[in-house]
Order: sequence, then structure tokens, then C-alpha cells
Amino acid sequence: MKKIIESSKKVWIKTFGCQMNYHDTERILSNLSELNYELSKNIEEADLILFNTCAIRDLANSKFYSSLGEVKVLKKRENKSVIVGVGGCVAQIEGNDLIKKYKHLDFAFGTDQIDNINKMVERVQNGDSKFIYDSYDPSQDYSIETKIINKSPQAFVNIIKGCNNFCTYCIVPFSRGREKSRRSSEILSDIKNLIATGVQEVTLLGQNVNAFGKENNERFSDLLLAVNDLIGLKRLRYTTSHPYFISDDLIKAHSTCDKLSDHLHLPVQSGSDSVLKRMGRRYTSSHYLEILEKIREANPRIVITSDIIVGFPNETENEFLETISLLEKARFDSIYSYKFSPRPGTVAEKIVDELLMSEKSKRLQTVQQIQEKIQVEIRSSFVGSKATLLVEGAGRMRGVKKWKGRSSCNRLIHFVPPSENDDFLGKWVDVEVLSATPFSCQGSLIGLTC
Ligand code: 5AD
Ligand code: SF4
Repeated sequence: MKKIIESSKKVWIKTFGCQMNYHDTERILSNLSELNYELSKNIEEADLILFNTCAIRDLANSKFYSSLGEVKVLKKRENKSVIVGVGGCVAQIEGNDLIKKYKHLDFAFGTDQIDNINKMVERVQNGDSKFIYDSYDPSQDYSIETKIINKSPQAFVNIIKGCNNFCTYCIVPFSRGREKSRRSSEILSDIKNLIATGVQEVTLLGQNVNAFGKENNERFSDLLLAVNDLIGLKRLRYTTSHPYFISDDLIKAHSTCDKLSDHLHLPVQSGSDSVLKRMGRRYTSSHYLEILEKIREANPRIVITSDIIVGFPNETENEFLETISLLEKARFDSIYSYKFSPRPGTVAEKIVDELLMSEKSKRLQTVQQIQEKIQVEIRSSFVGSKATLLVEGAGRMRGVKKWKGRSSCNRLIHFVPPSENDDFLGKWVDVEVLSATPFSCQGSLIGLTC
């Protein structure tokens, strides 16, 4: 008998927010491939439209709502049978309202329900609609296997989910729930499997990655040492860490793990002790600077990046200047900087804020200008040095084909190949840094890394 091969269906997905969301999207797509869905870049031909949402600041939220509105028109005009679902942090928090308010939305699913995506899609295919999957089971161990769909030599591996910190401005503990770590043994065999499929660089991922293992009596630094020992793995990264959980053993790992990248992303948020206290961050600016000193001693090549929030409710001019002073002392290689955005349900949202929005905008601009100056200075010493990159893609700049990859210290470097037809994807190369601006660097190819 002739076997009937069902033709593949198309899924279009838009992801907002952090690396965790992009990682989740990959898991969603991997699950959906079991239902014969393949990714499409063209929303008009999609049988299934998904949004993986972010609630961390209002901006990401509003972008999602306007995209969801556009899909309503599309569903009416082009394809009435298209299935529409919303996942991620906004769905976790406002899923019920979304389902009620948006008639064209078939289902919503929370951050802990990604592995049930196929059930949801099948439910809609069988005629059901307007439902939500948003439960958590806090009693269950956190046990998963990393699922990836692309054949990249770089992989993100989630080791801890959720966050217990409840920083007063942050919605993550509400959208992602309490901290839960995977077991080290499971993570190690997961990474070994990834290495067997060609992965060479791994980024250990979590909202508060260095709080890993507490409930299982395991230490993040021990996990780093064990991953570092895996044969076949060439580079190891982790993100995002919290200064309160930077321990001496973790600092030591930065000098002993030869595969650990020369980069640490360590969000400070503010340089003012009074603001840090109001944020619930549990460290002072001098404690933060001490950590930097120790970590730079452990690995003199290390490059530090950070996150800054300006305009926390009622931040005074003086408190703001303390942040500027911290930037000058810390000398970050780059920062993500944001205006405080009140998030529903958080402590900070309820504070009556006298600080004008125009002043917040001015402060953000000042932070960015000062940081840019620091970046120019720091990066000038990078010129002339040698960097080893794992090549992750190519593009054209003013008509010239260039490949790009990240150095161990996480700077993006572009280089021109000897010939247009050369394929460097997934290869390790050495480059000499020719120029280094605050936002990207240019290199010249020395050759493949031995
Ligand atoms: N407003 C502005 N920025 C925020 N972040 C988290 N919550 C908020 C908020 N309510 C920033 C922090 C965090 C980064 C991921 O997002 O700097 O480190
Ligand atoms: Fe949010 Fe604070 Fe947890 Fe980071 S540590 S995810 S800022 S609550």
C-alpha cells in the first residue's frame, strides 16, 4: 500500500524579550516539528501564528499588542482557519484577559507549559478554542532535555528557571515563578548529547543562573568545573547572574576553567545604595565594585557588562549621579540601559513617583553618552590584539561580504573572507583586531584556529 505523506504545515512565530524567550521559542518549534510544522518567515502563508511574549518593560508589551492587532486583520482577510496562540510572560500573567478580549486568539499558554504546545494545537485542530494552559507544578522536579532545531555549533542550555529575588521593579518572579534547578547530572548528560551532535559552545541559561542548585545541595561553581571538563566542548558561557550570589568559589572558577569565556554579565542596576535598597538588590555599590576587583584579579582578561535602570521612583539627582560615578569606576564594556517601567503587581509600581518622565529620559541619555565614551576608551586597547571567534553568520556591509563571530570576551567581530565563496560558518578562526568601536569591531583573518 502506498504511504500517504502528509504535507508539512507552516508556523510563524514572533519572539519578544530575553534569551530565555528565544530559547523557549526553539523548544516550541522543536515540539511542533513532531506535528509536521515547519518554520515560515511569511506570516501570510502560516497555518499557525504564535507570539512568545515578554512582560519585563512596557515597550515589549505594547509591541506585542500591536502585532496581535495586525493578526486580527490577517485572519479576517486572508486565512480564516489560521490558528493563533500566545505564550510567554504576558500570557502567564494576563492569559485569561487576552482570551476574552481578542476574539481571533485561540489559546494562551504560560511559561511552564511549552512542552504541552502540541496538545494545544491539536485541541484547536479538533474544533476547540478559547482555552488557556497556565498552571505550574511547584512540587515537580525540574527535569528536561534541551531541544534545538538549528544545526548551530552554539547552544543555550537552561539550568535554572524562575527567580526568588523579587527585586521590587521586576515582574519575572510573577511570570516565571519560583526558582527551580535541574540536577547537575542531567545537565551534564544533556550537554554531552549536544556535543555529540556538533555543539562546541554552550551558554548556561537562567534568570538568576548563579543561584543554581540551592534546593539540591549543588553549587554553580561545581557545575562549571564539570562542564569545563567535557571533552569536545570548546567554550562555555553563562548568563544572567546576580551580584548577591557571586561567591568566592565562583570567582575562582573564572581562573581555573580554561573554557569559561572572558566575559561576565553582572547587572548592577544602580550605583546608589539607597536606590539599590529600594530595589531590594541586597548589595551596595562598594560590594559590587569589590566583586569586580576580585573577578578581574582571578581573570585579568575578563570583560564585564551590565544592566542599568534610571529613573527608579523618586530617584534624586544625587542618587543618579552615584550611578554615573559607578559607571566611571566599573568601566563596563557595554551596558543595557533602561528607564524604569512600572510593572503590574510589583512593589515599585505602587510607589507614588514624583520624578518627571522628561527627567528620566534625560538621565537615560546621559548614562548612554557617558558609557559610550567609556566604551571608546576601553575598546581602543583591543586594537592590534588577537581574538578567537566561533563564526556564527555572514552579511554584507556596503556591498562587501563579511563573516562575524564573538570573541571569548563576547565582542562581535566582523572580518572579510579571502574569497566570497569561502564558508566559515561554525568554524573557529583567529583574527587580528583592526578597529573597535563601542558597538562592533572589525578584524582581519589570520586563519583557522589550530
Ligand atoms: N523597568 C526597567 N527595566 C527593568 N528591568 C527589569 N525590570 C525592569 C523594569 N520594571 C531590566 C533590568 C534587568 C533587565 C533584564 O531588564 O535591568 O536586569
Ligand atoms: Fe528580576 Fe531581580 Fe530576579 Fe533578575 S534577580 S529576574 S531583576 S527579580
